[in-house]
Amino acid sequence: MDRISITFADGEVMSFAPAPGGSVLTSAEQAGNALAHSCREGTCRTCVARRPNGDEVLLCVEPAQSGFEAVVPYRRADVSPPTLRRAKINSFQKLSRSVWEIRYRLQFPLPFLPGQFVEATFPGIDGPRRFSMANGPAEAEQILHVRDIPGGAMADYLATRAKAQDAFTVRGPFGIFYLRANPKPKLFVAGGTGLAPVIAMLRGIDRSSAPPLSLVVGFAEAQDAYAIDELKALATELPLEIVLTADTANQGWSGKMGNPVAGIGHVTAVPLQEGTEAYLCGPPGMVGAARTALRELGLRQDDIFNEEFVHQSPPA
Ligand SMILES: Cc1cc2nc3c(=O)[nH]c(=O)nc-3n(C[C@H](O)[C@H](O)[C@H](O)COP(=O)(O)OP(=O)(O)OC[C@H]3O[C@@H](n4cnc5c(N)ncnc54)[C@H](O)[C@@H]3O)c2cc1C
Ligand code: FES
Repeated sequence: MDRISITFADGEVMSFAPAPGGSVLTSAEQAGNALAHSCREGTCRTCVARRPNGDEVLLCVEPAQSGFEAVVPYRRADVSPPTLRRAKINSFQKLSRSVWEIRYRLQFPLPFLPGQFVEATFPGIDGPRRFSMANGPAEAEQILHVRDIPGGAMADYLATRAKAQDAFTVRGPFGIFYLRANPKPKLFVAGGTGLAPVIAMLRGIDRSSAPPLSLVVGFAEAQDAYAIDELKALATELPLEIVLTADTANQGWSGKMGNPVAGIGHVTAVPLQEGTEAYLCGPPGMVGAARTALRELGLRQDDIFNEEFVHQSPPA
């Protein structure tokens, strides 16, 4: 067989010719096919696939070779080609010491799966920035949670120039970090604004058939904590346990001390063993450490999904 063959989670098969000197991902793209990806450099795991022998491969760095076969953990329909939309800011505000919220509306709807992200290009900022939607997919008003990085272009824009009605563009949706609709108990581990896609998932869960859910969300300092009231409201609608952590805090903090990976030890509502699904989102170090800890507890590799909030050069 001289072609590459990719099998999707629902059994659909895509085949295409290997591009000389290219990766499996670039070969697929050159043949006009879409595969999930984000960083394109072998760090974020968005493009992870499994070979017939069980080995994992990252399709963005895997050399394209005739006869290559692998299975990817999503359906072909979940990687719809991205579209560009005009947007306008409705409002923006600081939710905590280090988190901004931007609420905006789209000129035309942009369907997405809760957990996915867009590339947003704001006025006067060189190149797009990636942000995960924090709203549910059926909601008209779109919400982003933006980390206030000192010296960052977004922080500067929001603190000094942004105003309601500012026009910007979003392109998407991207990513395969979306909630799998199945009855498995689900553990969410979020660091900082890694909470955004998790809130989108929680907002999108079917209230009548929700499995047991646990969320561990951690902040560097108690002053960074945000969306606590929203999480408490979600816990009245869903079978949701919330474990809050802060690396450092003073006496008023009612959550746990430590990082969110240590916070997993306080989870009681979902079994920390094979059969539970996990969704990890935030800084790469936290995501990697959480993945390792959950594997040691017995969760299956294929039941652990993640999005790493790495800073990336604007895509060409
Ligand atoms: C798939 C995906 C989804 C994301 N979703 C979100 C989201 O919902 N909310 C959110 O706040 N962020 C998210 N991020 C991260 C976000 O895209 C970047 O942090 C963002 O580009 C920062 O832009 P800026 O304009 O504030 O900083 P810039 O002006 O681009 O950078 C300023 C300085 O900060 C450093 N820096 C920027 N971002 C980071 C980072 N994440 N970690 C460490 N150093 C950094 C840069 O290297 C630079 O030195 C996501 C990233 C990815 C890949
Ligand atoms: S796109 Fe392959 S690891 Fe990020």
